[in-house]
Amino acid sequence: MVQKRHACQSYPHFLHGADYNPEQWLHDKSIWDVDMALMQQANCNEMSVGIFSWAKLEPREGEYDFSFLDEIIEKIHSNGGKVILATPSGARPRWLAEKYPEVLRVGHDGVREHFRGRHNHCYTSPVYREKVGAINRKLAERYGNHPAVVAWHISNEYSGECRCPLCQEAFRNFLREKYDNDIQKLNLAWWTTFWSKTFDSFDQIEAPGKHTENGLHGLNLDWRRFVTHQTKDFILAECAPIRELSPKLPVTINMMFEFYDLNYHQLADAIDIASWDSYPEWHNGDDAVIAQKTAFWHDLYRSLKKRPFLLMESTPSLVNWKSYNKPKKPGMDVLSAMQAVAHGSDSVQYFQWRKSRGSSEKLHGAVVGHDGTGDTRVFRSVQKTGQILKQIDEICGTLTQAKAAIVFDWENMWALDDAQGYANVGKQYMNTCYEYHRVFWEKGIDCDIISPKADLSGYALVVAPMLYMTDEETIENLKQYVAAGGTLYGTYMLGTVNETDLCWLGGMPGGALKEVFGILAEEIDTLYPHEQQHAGMGDREFTLVDYCEVIHAKGARVLAEYADGWYAGMPAATENRYGKGLAVYQACRDREGLKDALLDRLIRDAGIQPNLPCALPHGVTAHSRTDGVHTYIFVENYSDQTVEEVALPGSMTDLLTGENVTSVQLPPYGFGIFRKE
Ligand code: GLA
Ligand code: GLA
Repeated sequence: MVQKRHACQSYPHFLHGADYNPEQWLHDKSIWDVDMALMQQANCNEMSVGIFSWAKLEPREGEYDFSFLDEIIEKIHSNGGKVILATPSGARPRWLAEKYPEVLRVGHDGVREHFRGRHNHCYTSPVYREKVGAINRKLAERYGNHPAVVAWHISNEYSGECRCPLCQEAFRNFLREKYDNDIQKLNLAWWTTFWSKTFDSFDQIEAPGKHTENGLHGLNLDWRRFVTHQTKDFILAECAPIRELSPKLPVTINMMFEFYDLNYHQLADAIDIASWDSYPEWHNGDDAVIAQKTAFWHDLYRSLKKRPFLLMESTPSLVNWKSYNKPKKPGMDVLSAMQAVAHGSDSVQYFQWRKSRGSSEKLHGAVVGHDGTGDTRVFRSVQKTGQILKQIDEICGTLTQAKAAIVFDWENMWALDDAQGYANVGKQYMNTCYEYHRVFWEKGIDCDIISPKADLSGYALVVAPMLYMTDEETIENLKQYVAAGGTLYGTYMLGTVNETDLCWLGGMPGGALKEVFGILAEEIDTLYPHEQQHAGMGDREFTLVDYCEVIHAKGARVLAEYADGWYAGMPAATENRYGKGLAVYQACRDREGLKDALLDRLIRDAGIQPNLPCALPHGVTAHSRTDGVHTYIFVENYSDQTVEEVALPGSMTDLLTGENVTSVQLPPYGFGIFRKE
């Protein structure tokens, strides 16, 4: 039986708030009182504080001054609000960088940065770890059991890498451990005989970079793994005093959209709840496409911990860092907030509460602008979102039970990008994952985004697009899933290399995947951008672009055949019964059509129910959450057209009007939220 699992157990309600930087207004604290009144007016019940406050909290080494934080937390608390408290490691005070230069990062050129910017500390530096640990301990001692504090926001948007001598040595130690201190083992794993790259000792290894060896794929991959490992180690070090002194509160890190540098699947076990900062480029083209890509990341963050996540940041209007910074149109403000909730968020939070007066973010959107009032379009839309969150509070903590999943893997993305071959102008891994996700989104089917090593047993259908890198564990996981009755959908390039980026021997896809799929892949035709091929399935023909893999059916049933080219008549898609399950293979990249047709049938055969009983018009989708007793369905319209009538699965309660309805009409950028008993 499904039960609620609130992101913040100590406050089982939707959080509606923002990043709040009251320390910027210490010279005029009357602003704080205005803020408190406006927060109530905006239906906000939470503020994230302390994110960049280190210089105020520890103005000189070892001299702490928590007075502003004491005061603001008390103020928020006495006004009925909650606090997400940050650790301040995202930006350090000047004294720290001046006294201990080792906390500053070193770049590709070996040059150490000066004190500047933020999000740029060395994650290996023992001094930085010690200083962060000390202030985190003070914060946890002081506020770790404060009734207003509901969660810990660890640092801010971890990213990037450092190439200082400490990191280089930590990298070598990471490799020593991984390869059992045996340099020959590493030489074989990285295939260093190629171009005479053999290492005699671990001491000779340097981080790959612009001016250092960067052609050994195993080295490049292991460096990226190390960066994730070291960042995770830093996060765990940050969390240690917090977990010790504030064990009841969850810790989170705020993650990002299309983020490349760190493998978030690895970071997931360092945190209790996932949260992310979502800044889609709304209105730059078809909003349905933008919504679906955003949905992919909401789905990923929900899947990361298999429980509600937090939307930690979003803009109430516009950002300041894109090429063109356009405000959300009326309607999209509230709809985009509800989208996060539809996909499993227990919060809607903004960057930022009040616009800073100076520096780089002074033109970034905020709930309260430089006018300092609640009398703006943006403020009123925030107020409305807060009102709706109160009306639907029973949904907080409910879960999404997706029967379909898409495998997305950072290590696979890195390996594909490193691969010289196929199309070197870009393999389009991310876009291909989006394309498979689109099929589910357009049908209004809930879909998880998971690691190849995830437990697959709860899914009726798993799609693994372009899973080029498959280690033994992944091969075994996929094999067991199909053997036990699952339906697995793989594509061209599946199982090409192993975990250190060595090609599998004995034919592709590697290892047991050949038997699972009942095929043998022989070569790939990479198409020029102006070329197209075709595949026929029954009486339908589909356009193919970019990649046509030439495969042989070795036991698999052929579902589609190439219609032209020198491989005409050969299989373009196959299916194979394996154990109690089914393995479907798509050998080519289609431009919409083939994947839709194949998935259409597989979704039906796997018994996966869309959330709504009808085909959805362009731009409309539906997602669900449940507490095991009630099912909540969110219907969302990302088009600027009115959608006349969308049928619901029977009579449902409209949570916004209280009426019983069987269908919904959606205005442009409109949505509805319904409860099925
Ligand atoms: C050149 C080099 C070879 C090899 C080929 C690949 O000809 O001499 O070592 O790299 O390119 O096409
Ligand atoms: C990120 C950061 C915030 C702020 C916003 C601006 O999400 O975490 O501090 O800079 O971007 O969009």
